[in-house]
Amino acid sequence: MTSARIHEGLEGVLVAKTTLSSVEGDVGRLTIRGHLIESLASEAPYEAMVGLLLDGALPPPERLRELQAQLGAARVRAYARLAPLGRAVRSTDPMRSLATALSLLPSDATPADAIGMAGVATAAWLSKARGITSLAPEPELPHAQDLLRLARGVAPTPAATRLLDTYLVTVAEHGFNASTFAARVTASTGADLASAVVSGVVTLSGPLHGGAPGPVLDMLDAVATPEHAREYVRAELALGRRIMGMGHRVYRARDPRAFVLERALAAYQRSDVANARLELARAVEQAAEAELARLHPERPLRANVEFYTALLLEALEVPRAAFTAIFACARVAGYAAHYAEQRREGRLIRPSALYVGP
Ligand code: COA
Repeated sequence: MTSARIHEGLEGVLVAKTTLSSVEGDVGRLTIRGHLIESLASEAPYEAMVGLLLDGALPPPERLRELQAQLGAARVRAYARLAPLGRAVRSTDPMRSLATALSLLPSDATPADAIGMAGVATAAWLSKARGITSLAPEPELPHAQDLLRLARGVAPTPAATRLLDTYLVTVAEHGFNASTFAARVTASTGADLASAVVSGVVTLSGPLHGGAPGPVLDMLDAVATPEHAREYVRAELALGRRIMGMGHRVYRARDPRAFVLERALAAYQRSDVANARLELARAVEQAAEAELARLHPERPLRANVEFYTALLLEALEVPRAAFTAIFACARVAGYAAHYAEQRREGRLIRPSALYVGP
């Protein structure tokens, strides 16, 4: 056994077939069931992405209305399920309260139940962070619009709703990333959907996966002005620290989702302060890309989705502690679609390790 090759981090190892999404790292292309992420993100509401993932095709208008109603009803059920627990679920870290809320779902929960619960639990945490009374969901509203309303206590503008829809669509699904893989491992044991979604969510929480965007803003705060970007990045790298929002396991080009989110944000920006923030981010990205290329000429390390996620969620007035929870709200649709695929076609996932102990 000592000659066996170990695939550390499973990099490049194929473990299943999937029809859900294709991540082409060399050219920086992401397609979801054959649709480029750029076209989906600029047009589709989140419900359309949910339909695409669960049904296999973009939903026609009637199915879209049905999905909207199903998510609305699921938000109402989630609100009723969380109500008796009140502050208990909302008082911890948002990712912990999200995982706790999802684990309250019944064993026969549907994908809509999981999406509804994720949205309502996260919005409840956000409303508490704002110090406002938690509102009841309005089931007839589109999902993104209701989430913003629940989180802020007031009706959002159409532009803010569009921006959140773009974000939710952009990050709903992304191949065999670590948290999706975790959800599939759980699904492969025959566990129920809610358990698989909880596995995904807790795995997403780490800073090397979904936990990077908060630290991206901390970095922008520390850099403060574009002129300091180079100096800051150099000092961080000299200390052996990672630049958050840069690099990716699969992409060797700039993450296509970074383009989508940067463009959506530029279209949304209005105030001079917000525009200056975007310029600062672009300067930090350029400096980081140049310095990382110098240090790792063999491995392109460019901006990933988290870099502009940070700015986009900041523009939507989401506190940085809850960035990963909003990411999770979107990704639950991907976990649910992978759950179905794994249960339909997959085997128990059970790799081996090389024993090197005494
Ligand atoms: N800043 C500084 N160095 C980085 C880096 C970053 N953001 N990303 C990778 N590197 C370096 C590593 O230190 C490593 O150097 P070494 O070979 O001298 O040890 C080399 O590049 C390869 O990195 P590795 O960790 O093996 O790549 P990976 O595929 O395991 O990592 C990430 C991918 C995403 C975990 C990694 O790029 C990272 O930590 N990025 C920052 C966190 C982040 O933005 N996460 C969100 C991902 S969507």
